[in-house]
Amino acid sequence: MVHWPDSMVTYIPEQKLLLSNDAFGQHIASAERFDDEIGWDIIHEEAAKYYANIVYPYGDQVSKALNVVSQLPVDMIAPSHGLILRSYIPQLLESYRKWSSHESDKKVLIVYDTMWGSTKKIARALMEGLESAGVPVTIRFLQTSHISEIVPDVLNSRAVLIGSPTLNNGMLPTVGALLTYLKGLRPKKKKGLAFGSYGWGGQGAKEVSAAMQSMGWEAPLEFINIQYSPDDSELNNIKEAGKKLGEIL
Ligand SMILES: Cc1cc2nc3c(=O)[nH]c(=O)nc-3n(C[C@H](O)[C@H](O)[C@H](O)COP(=O)(O)O)c2cc1C
Repeated sequence: MVHWPDSMVTYIPEQKLLLSNDAFGQHIASAERFDDEIGWDIIHEEAAKYYANIVYPYGDQVSKALNVVSQLPVDMIAPSHGLILRSYIPQLLESYRKWSSHESDKKVLIVYDTMWGSTKKIARALMEGLESAGVPVTIRFLQTSHISEIVPDVLNSRAVLIGSPTLNNGMLPTVGALLTYLKGLRPKKKKGLAFGSYGWGGQGAKEVSAAMQSMGWEAPLEFINIQYSPDDSELNNIKEAGKKLGEIL
């Protein structure tokens, strides 16, 4: 089950070669054949993207597989997707150990969508507050980042803040798509904070908050719901909330 029922791994002892199937894969096509020909930074980023989008729900199976692999003398790993590993095997094994045990960095991801910019103002105020507490932030706008690009940031971040305005008594469809996708990937050990702007009912941020709760994410702060465009005093309060969350982290 890393990551299909029929996924099998083959070890060739004569060559100390592991044909690892979906484990250690990357979604990348290049003229190069080996990891050191393209560099650790790219391998690491692409392997994280592959893990987050494909392997994330199977962390327990990955941990078991890692226990076996770490006992084997391995000179080379040839996954079914991506480049062949021969130089960065210890680094990638360490990344897999971290990802499969749901360890993350003291970093925050903010993802949002907006119709007219109010939810963006909340997102940026949260970012300022978090940064004032010394916490690095990645901010993603759903109209310019594909969800498959966002999931590696979820994997590596300790807290994920998701913002949506209210549209027709609910969250925006783009935010709904992100949450549906995330739910299937089962990201664990996350702190979450929902936020958004609304006009009258305000169900958008509430729905985001409920989706986070259903994934078992901790909610250190109450979700933030602002009527129409946030004024200066509301923006200050939001910055303070960001700072508080940063201190909690
Ligand atoms: C088509 C449309 C439908 C809306 N439906 C709702 C709604 O059902 N409930 C609500 O509270 N606000 C609703 N609003 C108001 C927006 O949530 C509000 O204008 C909000 O400030 C927009 O945030 P944004 O600037 O981040 O897009 C709607 C707005 C539009 C354009």
